[in-house]
Amino acid sequence: MKKIVIAIDGYSSCGKSTTAKLVAAELGYAYIDTGAMYRAVTLYFLQNHISLTNPKEIQKALDNIEISFHYNPKAKRNEVFLNGLNVEDEIRKMYISNNVSEVSVIPEVRKAMVAQQQNMGKKRGVVMDGRDIGTAVFPDAEVKIFMTADVNTRAKRRQQELLEKKQLVNLDEIRENLEKRDKIDSTRTESPLRQAEDAHLLDTSHMVIEEQVEFVLNKTASAMFEK
Ligand code: DC
Repeated sequence: MKKIVIAIDGYSSCGKSTTAKLVAAELGYAYIDTGAMYRAVTLYFLQNHISLTNPKEIQKALDNIEISFHYNPKAKRNEVFLNGLNVEDEIRKMYISNNVSEVSVIPEVRKAMVAQQQNMGKKRGVVMDGRDIGTAVFPDAEVKIFMTADVNTRAKRRQQELLEKKQLVNLDEIRENLEKRDKIDSTRTESPLRQAEDAHLLDTSHMVIEEQVEFVLNKTASAMFEK
């Protein structure tokens, strides 16, 4: 069967990655978490005190960054590596969430990440989640999903996720972070977060994960049948 690209975009913490992972496993496709790539770049910039207003310094830093994904069979998950070092847990921490949107608006950063993502998905057979997959990375994706959910629901889900990683964070702090990131992500000039015209809207406020996966798989089946 023909391999396709499934693009899942949407607001922070509406269940994009959980859905994308399960859809990828169901289809035997690769899963690429593009948010993890922007988070890894943010970690590198913070560790190396890169000035966010100096394009030369930014470009030099980007040339020194190598991001890859490796499957960890013990943890049963794909983990992100920054210059050969496993940074999967570090990049999920709040200090990265609080800085990642400012790094993601930088045109040089977007250009470098989009090129890598296009390369990772060039053989197709991928489920990619992010903010600009259906609009900028793979505008020709056969299936495009745009996910949203009520902000309080999202904040509670995120709090639970962090708790599972033994990080105790106040609900108001999480909500503020989500709202701030959504605002920066949707209003930036370079490939802002927006629903592609041909994307299916998926509001997960009152859905369980199985329903979200089923929604995407149904759209995928229709797209495969059409092609
Ligand atoms: O999916 P996430 O919450 O881990 O993403 C972290 C940040 O990365 C998000 O606030 C915006 C940015 N991002 C982006 O600009 N473009 C993408 N394709 C993916 C993420």
